[in-house]
Amino acid sequence: MLVAEGLEGVAAFETGLSCIDGDEGRIMYREYPAEELQHNRNFEEVAYLLWYGKWPAADKLEEFQRILAARRFLPRHVKLTLDQLPEEVDMMSVLQTAVSALKDCESVWPPSWEQASGIVSKIPAIIAHRRARLEGREAVEPRLDLNHTANYLYMLFGKEPSDSQRQMLETYLVLTQELGSNPSTFTARVVASTRSDLISSTSAAIGALKGTLHGGAPAEVLEMLREIGCPERAEGWIREALECDRRIMGFGHRIFKSRDPRSDMLKALALRHAPEHPLLKLAVSVEETAHRLLEEYKPGRQLVTNVDYYASVVLHIVGLDESLFTPTFAVSRCVGWCAHIMEQAVHNRLIYPQAIYRSEIQKRRPDTWFGHALAGRAGEVLAPEVVL
Ligand code: COA
Repeated sequence: MLVAEGLEGVAAFETGLSCIDGDEGRIMYREYPAEELQHNRNFEEVAYLLWYGKWPAADKLEEFQRILAARRFLPRHVKLTLDQLPEEVDMMSVLQTAVSALKDCESVWPPSWEQASGIVSKIPAIIAHRRARLEGREAVEPRLDLNHTANYLYMLFGKEPSDSQRQMLETYLVLTQELGSNPSTFTARVVASTRSDLISSTSAAIGALKGTLHGGAPAEVLEMLREIGCPERAEGWIREALECDRRIMGFGHRIFKSRDPRSDMLKALALRHAPEHPLLKLAVSVEETAHRLLEEYKPGRQLVTNVDYYASVVLHIVGLDESLFTPTFAVSRCVGWCAHIMEQAVHNRLIYPQAIYRSEIQKRRPDTWFGHALAGRAGEVLAPEVVL
């Protein structure tokens, strides 16, 4: 039996939600190219398309928006949970905990659209509540008259967003709702396939999204750009990183090899709204240097700019700090997770791939067993018995 490392090139399921053409750099939500959606559609319309397979008529959209808005309010026990978590707990772990606490007594299986809309509606409120408490102020209650995006910004900042802020975030949230069998969505489907509940599937997906090889990259992109500081320092910084075999965040993608269309669209969005922004100017210049050096150090790997590179710029211009970047990704991707969980439930078969035992693996890489991440101060590797 052959192993496809990282499951590269393996199709895990069929889906009617999106069509991703990695060679051509194209994304379709249902049968609509992402390029079309970003200009004309808002968060709720695109979520409706993904969930119900068609654009909503005006009255249906109004009803959908009303339902989502009505479910924004957090139960008291969730607020208490949020308030009790220590300050040091990162926002993604907080989100995961709070989402898990949304579990009610409803039936575990099958998942329902009602549960899905409850989670999608509440994720922004969870983030905003926690954020307010960390800043030592009262959380802002959701407003029913604002759409999903505007309400999220309103709850975060305590005032209505400008048109530019809302439009930029709306586009980001539309473009990142869905992307086939990405790691967090795959995680959600695996959990759903066991007939676990929608909350558990979503909470597992949040855990997968957090990693820096997936949704955790934008904060690292910002850090990298800050460290580089000016275009003249880009060459030296990137060269040194590649010499040390470090990854350049915001570049490379498992599926997109010619271009990640979301990166182009987010770059164009930032150029339209804030052409003179210093971070954007720096990012554009660093991108050119990174492409050149990646091709020099990693020839033929086709390491294109991915969504997270310009996502970090867009989210920064909107006014979010980096601790909110990945949680904001969860605000949108949660729509895709729920759509996939429902799709999985309709034609469910337990996802259960095989593992092949090889005795030499432990002998080959002893430092990666248990002790690696837990090495003592002097760098010694702890024996498994000690750790356990
Ligand atoms: N910087 C430097 N080298 C990179 C790289 C990057 N951003 N991304 C991939 N590579 C290199 C790897 O070191 C590897 O080199 P090798 O063949 O010499 O061993 C090769 O390219 C293939 O990488 P691999 O990890 O097998 O590709 P993947 O398809 O499994 O990984 C990512 C895809 C996204 C995880 C990877 O490109 C990455 O780590 N990017 C940076 C993190 C990031 O931006 N994440 C957000 C993704 S949307």
